[in-house]
Amino acid sequence: MTEVIIAKSEDAAGEIYAKAMASLIASKPNAVLGLATGSSPLTAYKHLAAHVAAEHLDVSQVRGFALDEYVGLGVNHEQSYHATINRTVTEPLGLNPEFVHVPNGDLSTIQTAGADYDAAIEAAGGVDCQILGIGTDGHIGFNEPGSSLVSGTRIKTLLEQTREDNKRFFTSLDEVPTHAITQGIGTILRARHLVLLAFGESKAPAIAAAVEGGISSFCPASALQLHPRATVIVDEAAASQLKNLDYYKYAVAHKPAWQGI
Ligand code: GLP
Repeated sequence: MTEVIIAKSEDAAGEIYAKAMASLIASKPNAVLGLATGSSPLTAYKHLAAHVAAEHLDVSQVRGFALDEYVGLGVNHEQSYHATINRTVTEPLGLNPEFVHVPNGDLSTIQTAGADYDAAIEAAGGVDCQILGIGTDGHIGFNEPGSSLVSGTRIKTLLEQTREDNKRFFTSLDEVPTHAITQGIGTILRARHLVLLAFGESKAPAIAAAVEGGISSFCPASALQLHPRATVIVDEAAASQLKNLDYYKYAVAHKPAWQGI
């Protein structure tokens, strides 16, 4: 099943992720990290950067693959996911930018960009740990409701709700692109470990549907239930609509000390 960890705070959740990634990098210096944009992973990246500095971790061989990118926005736009990943992950962690990949949202190559990206992930040996946020409609990456659960990286039309949610990063709704290129759900499920982070009450319905609802393309995050190693780290507010809350807390409280996430 999906392991659900109810963290005391977003900060505590970020530290759980960071500790696990620091130990992954220490044991596998060329680890492949699956990266995500959005506000949910930001604290986790900050904690990981602190671990890298405090433990003098060698990250020169670490590779990264981001989930998604807006189509047609251009890598130089400050809200492109290319620029966002660079600002929030590559620079603070000190990764080699040549080893950090973001799907190519350039219109001229969009027809082949998805298959090329999946091939690049495979050539790198697959993703060791994919960090995920969740949209209020249950999307992961930019896999909107209705996305095939075995999809590869491809272009998707964004829901108006998603564009509304993301307009805070732009000056107006009109500026938010209508299309994105995103790792498919099938691509995401091939990562060896999935860690989904969600905070705040607005994510509570999506978290309940993803963790305890039926597996359905209409809640893309419910695909985590198909993964042998998925960890959902939430705060109390995002966990507030889960029915099995007591059990999740009990399981974490009685977890053997040697078992990480
Ligand atoms: C965007 C991203 C998703 C992210 C979602 C939620 O749609 N493509 O990867 O999970 O936003 O973002 P936030 O964490 O800011 O709520």
